[in-house]
Amino acid sequence: MEDEEAMEAMEAMEGAEDTEAFIELDGVEKVFDVRKKTGFLKRERRRVRAVDSISFSVARGEMVGYIGPNGAGKSTTIKMLTGILTPSGGRLRVAGIDPSRERTRLAHRIGVVFGQRTTLWWDLPLLDSYKLMRRMYRIPDTRYRHNLDRLVELLDLSALLDVPVRQLSLGQRMRGDIAAALLHDPEVLYLDEPTIGLDVISKAKVRDFLRELNTERGTTVLLTTHDLQDIEQLCSRVMVIDHGRLMYDGPLAGLHEVGESERTLVVDLERELPPIEAAPARVVRVEGPRQWLAFPAAESAAVLVARIAAEYPLVDLSVREPDIEAVIAKMYAEQAEKADRAEQAGKAIS
Ligand SMILES: Nc1ncnc2c1ncn2[C@@H]1O[C@H](COP(=O)(O)OP(=O)(O)OP(=O)(O)O)[C@@H](O)[C@H]1O
Ligand SMILES: [Mg+2]
Repeated sequence: MEDEEAMEAMEAMEGAEDTEAFIELDGVEKVFDVRKKTGFLKRERRRVRAVDSISFSVARGEMVGYIGPNGAGKSTTIKMLTGILTPSGGRLRVAGIDPSRERTRLAHRIGVVFGQRTTLWWDLPLLDSYKLMRRMYRIPDTRYRHNLDRLVELLDLSALLDVPVRQLSLGQRMRGDIAAALLHDPEVLYLDEPTIGLDVISKAKVRDFLRELNTERGTTVLLTTHDLQDIEQLCSRVMVIDHGRLMYDGPLAGLHEVGESERTLVVDLERELPPIEAAPARVVRVEGPRQWLAFPAAESAAVLVARIAAEYPLVDLSVREPDIEAVIAKMYAEQAEKADRAEQAGKAIS
């Protein structure tokens, strides 16, 4: 027994020190038992496989996007990585720690921001929440002061410290939450939709801050978002999850290729004209003098615009980025098709 404990301690130490994989998932599953009322006194039991055998690893200092449609299993994964939820199967380690078994020990090394709900005390001024965090995490005084000063400056919080959290705007509250998650110098930060509902300027501030945190302090970041621009601006690597399964793990550019995503150029012409001809772009919609052209996301919009401007009387234009849901939906459809074809091929052989 003692040997086993010693082994485990060694394993934990190895995991904590310069291992390649800082976050490691191996065949992780989470199944929820849901009871649904189907009639008077009648209940139906249903099993929801929220996370279905997911494996990946994240190295120390990486900044990885974790995306997927609603209900894909992203938040469930993050909850397992913090120890809030216990996996139904598989193996999971963060900094060498099994999150659900040693949640408190892990808490000192991770920071979490759930965009949908705050970890701050609603009725207290922001600063009081931070003081409570200092007590909870037993942050030494000098370190607390140093971190607070830095975070207040970088996240522009000085005017907000005396304001009760419930009076903060969404964007202010989010910045307050991010600071709260970082007061104890965590090595890894999980962000579950940190830019949800933020205006353009607040989003930019949060992104700048995260970039700096990652490059200057080497904090490992796992970022869940529905905003593809968050990923484009911050993450060199993206993982896509759908129906609890990992569909893609690689660079964002590769995702566009896999999903064959398209951008849309919307042009306003001087007058109604027949559909513009500018292959590989193709007109997908015409409304009076306005036309919508879909073109491969990898193509340069500038080149396309220049070509159209040279031949058509252009008044105005705008480019719409591919919608992340559409990219994923397309990718998912392709995966399903591939599986179908493989099955058909299998049948043909047998
Ligand atoms: N506590 C729970 N009990 C039962 N089912 C749950 C529970 N939490 C999540 N689920 C289910 O698990 C699946 C994955 O949910 P999850 O919250 O992880 O999705 P998500 O990828 O974060 O989606 P979103 O983009 O909408 O936030 C969904 O079908 C959801 O209904
Ligand atoms: Mg979620």
